[in-house]
Amino acid sequence: MSSLFASKFNTTIPLLDQVVNHEKAPLYGGLFVLLFVVLLWNNNKSETRSGKPLPPVVPHRVPILGKAVPYGVQPVTFLQECMQKFGDCFTFTMMGRKMTFCLNPDGNHFVFNVKLSHATAEGAYDKLTVPVFGTEVVYDVPNSTFMEQKKFVKDALTTSAFKTYVPIIIKEARDFFGTWADKKEKLELFPEMAELTIRTASHCLMGKEIRDQLHSNVAKLYHDLDGGFQPINVFFRWLPLPNYIKRDRANRIMTETFLKILKERRDTNNLESQDVLQSLMDGVYRDGSKMSDEAIAHMMIATLMAGQHTSSTSASWILFELANNPDALAELIKEQSMILTGRPDTPAHELPDFTYEELRKFTYLDCVMKESLRLHTPIHTVMRLVVKDIEYKGYTIPAGHFLCGSQAVSQMDAKRFPEPEKFDPTRWTESDEGAGEWTINGVDIAQKSARSNFLPFGAGRHRCIGEAFAYIQIKTIIAMFVREFTHDLVKETKTGKNIFPEMDFTSLVVIPKAPGYISYERRPELRK
Ligand code: HEM
Repeated sequence: MSSLFASKFNTTIPLLDQVVNHEKAPLYGGLFVLLFVVLLWNNNKSETRSGKPLPPVVPHRVPILGKAVPYGVQPVTFLQECMQKFGDCFTFTMMGRKMTFCLNPDGNHFVFNVKLSHATAEGAYDKLTVPVFGTEVVYDVPNSTFMEQKKFVKDALTTSAFKTYVPIIIKEARDFFGTWADKKEKLELFPEMAELTIRTASHCLMGKEIRDQLHSNVAKLYHDLDGGFQPINVFFRWLPLPNYIKRDRANRIMTETFLKILKERRDTNNLESQDVLQSLMDGVYRDGSKMSDEAIAHMMIATLMAGQHTSSTSASWILFELANNPDALAELIKEQSMILTGRPDTPAHELPDFTYEELRKFTYLDCVMKESLRLHTPIHTVMRLVVKDIEYKGYTIPAGHFLCGSQAVSQMDAKRFPEPEKFDPTRWTESDEGAGEWTINGVDIAQKSARSNFLPFGAGRHRCIGEAFAYIQIKTIIAMFVREFTHDLVKETKTGKNIFPEMDFTSLVVIPKAPGYISYERRPELRK
């Protein structure tokens, strides 16, 4: 049966051949036919209920797997090709699930603002996130509770807290870069940015206690939790694999670590810190209750995980783009010099440290970050699980489908961004599109329009609450890097051409394909 199955679909399914005992082949054959019929029936049964047509279907040859490979490896190219053939709303199968994409600004608007009674994020993400974050938080609780939890975290991300974070990030960056050799021909950038980000984010948001433990077990635990954050886990909550076992163990130990810190803070009456932990400890739900200590610990893990890869990959991409665009790099250094000293050419080693207010004036750096987020948006697809049939542009999207939007596609739209592949920070100098909390502080985040091409931080009720912090953290890291080092892309030996890393879409967050190298040199006056 397996070979029949395989030849019919002109593919091989090696595992089937290994698993099937040939003496029992007729029995297995019958079972496979039954399974196949049930799957087909399951996949199609909700689709006969509606009067309106279903979205066009992208055909596939391998049942169950469907389009998992082209989508998983090159999602943007795959979605753009589908859009050309089928329009901006279509469905394809992946791992037995029906994925319906609504693309472009209209699609973004629809997906990000879909009613809770129609489609939920928890339905789409809970298998992935609940084991990593833990229970009682985020997608393990009703959305209204999670919205209050988000607010508790956001309450810690105030201007007065940011003012204290900038010197912390400056010091962390300086200390970290100080550990580097003066010069390297090849440095794999992403792991370095990941380490610096975990230092800065944990120091600012998690509290000093966690930062102090980073050298010991926390970094390793973080790594194990991260191992549970793989695309496949969107579909499988638990499998008997080492990654899943390590993930669960790491969650338990991290939870215990936070519980200990909570207790110490209470025992020593040390309740003045301006960090997320304190904000969660102080937070009161609308019904007057407070989060349990376990829930606080789990929300801390969630916050750490939400910001870590998104920020470290963004910092890496900015540095790769700057290495590839020397004019933009020169402009950045000039801007820093102008704002901090009033002259465009103060040598980097003479530049003073900057404050939060000065950092905000580095507007060209804002444009560089936006342009990099446009080209290398860390989260390329957002998903919701449809719980009640919904209509979109004359189609019915049935319950059971995954409703998906992709800001990565709309951010590469040539109509909105001419020469979309080109890194051009000046696109943003006159535009206020994408202006988030950074520029419209205090505006209700859920009100921000999602009918936009540029949504690297999402929109609607699930919009990112970490945007302002991400800008502060990443801008500070980049500003410190460019004043300390000159850097370049590594060159191909034969051709002398720059090697710009490809985007790795197989990771949950789009990271530079490993190993992505730069070469760098510390500025002469700053050498050890
Ligand atoms: C949600 C991107 C940094 C915390 C989101 C979403 C996106 C996003 C696209 C919406 C997901 C969806 O609609 O399904 C980014 C990017 C970042 C970043 C590009 C950095 C460059 C951070 C940081 C934090 C954070 C630093 C924490 C301090 C969150 C939280 C949510 C979220 C709590 C809400 C999830 C929900 O409501 O379902 N982020 N993020 N993010 N982000 Fe971020």
